[in-house]
Amino acid sequence: MTEIHRGLAGVNVDTSQICSIDGERGELIYRGYDIRELADQASFEEVVHLLWFGELPTRSELDALRDGLRPAFDLPGEVLDLLARTPKGTAPMHALRTAVSALAAFDDDADDTSEANLRRVGTSLLGKIPAIVAAYQRLQAGQEPVAPDPNLGVAANFLRMVNGEEPSDAATRVMDVALVLHAEHGSNASTFVARATASSLTDPYSAITAAIGSLKGPLHGGANYGVMQALESIGDLAGVEPYVHGKLAEEGGRVMGFGHRVYRVMDPRATILKGVSERLAQESGDAKWFEMSLEMERVMDAAMEAKGKQVKPNVDFFSASVYRMLGFAKETYTPIFALSRTAGWMAHLFEQYADNRLMRPRLVYEGAKGKTFTPVDQRG
Ligand code: CMC
Repeated sequence: MTEIHRGLAGVNVDTSQICSIDGERGELIYRGYDIRELADQASFEEVVHLLWFGELPTRSELDALRDGLRPAFDLPGEVLDLLARTPKGTAPMHALRTAVSALAAFDDDADDTSEANLRRVGTSLLGKIPAIVAAYQRLQAGQEPVAPDPNLGVAANFLRMVNGEEPSDAATRVMDVALVLHAEHGSNASTFVARATASSLTDPYSAITAAIGSLKGPLHGGANYGVMQALESIGDLAGVEPYVHGKLAEEGGRVMGFGHRVYRVMDPRATILKGVSERLAQESGDAKWFEMSLEMERVMDAAMEAKGKQVKPNVDFFSASVYRMLGFAKETYTPIFALSRTAGWMAHLFEQYADNRLMRPRLVYEGAKGKTFTPVDQRG
């Protein structure tokens, strides 16, 4: 019997130095550091340095990374025009994927896959992707894009470019935590897609464009949008239980924000975001989204326990209420995931290009055999 690993479950395609996940113990480690410690203490830029260079930065290394980022938030005028001409109502992930692909046309060295050039492209995308997401959100709302402030880091700049005002330190810190938590997660679908795309030795813009397309799906990064869509459609606390039971009664029904290919216990990122969501709910005095999320977790826990399944909240579950309380439209949730995951995608591209082998798995053919050709006019 030929063994088939559907969804590539349990298949080791290569080795990596970047990230390790223990799904039984609920551990996520970036280059040796526990995610809980990083979320508690590190800025997104420190985590980018860690993922890209293998070590947390010294003060001067961090300054160098921030200096490199300053011009990176600027977008070519043509890309801003493209975003402005995108038909109203186009989902932001479609616009982001298209704009990132377009950026290659404004980079004379787009096809250079040397390490130095990849680091330049990575830094550029780390600034340009948040700028695209923010500009697109404003353009769709009929507002002018806000120019980046080169003195701000990614979290603060993004908030400022979205809202048009200086963000508070508290909002910037929450944003930073969310970016740290979403920056990297091993061989998830979009990262695998990025690596597989790069393995033909095509350019990094193609790999990141493909990764964005993969992240967009509702089983992956698109789930955070799905969580808020569900919470909004439910409307209030009393509606949560019937909604969950209704979903689970559907053939193949999924409750978004629950379940994971690797984790058998609660995703450690979900645990951290649950705490953030609770704190924001207390501070803002608007606990509706947090309380509905808690209720959904309770109902899912009971339903899954009854079925003997280990389906727990994942990173997308509590990020939905956190983003809501930060003031983001739900359409922006998955793009936020993308702007953070760019750090991880690029780290994997550095690894992939440095020691490449073309990805070329096989499919076991089960189709028809031995047919003979009939000219078109003789086919019945
Ligand atoms: N709601 C209801 N049942 C579920 C869910 C869910 N969210 N997730 C898994 N299950 C059940 C599923 O029905 C299956 O039952 P059975 O064995 O009886 O058919 C069992 O649990 C195993 O599920 P699976 O789909 O075979 O597992 P998988 O590893 O292929 O899928 C998953 C993982 C993430 C696609 C799935 O859990 C899911 O669809 N979740 C909802 C979407 C979501 O939240 N995605 C975000 C993933 S984490 C972060 C990210 O990548 O963005």
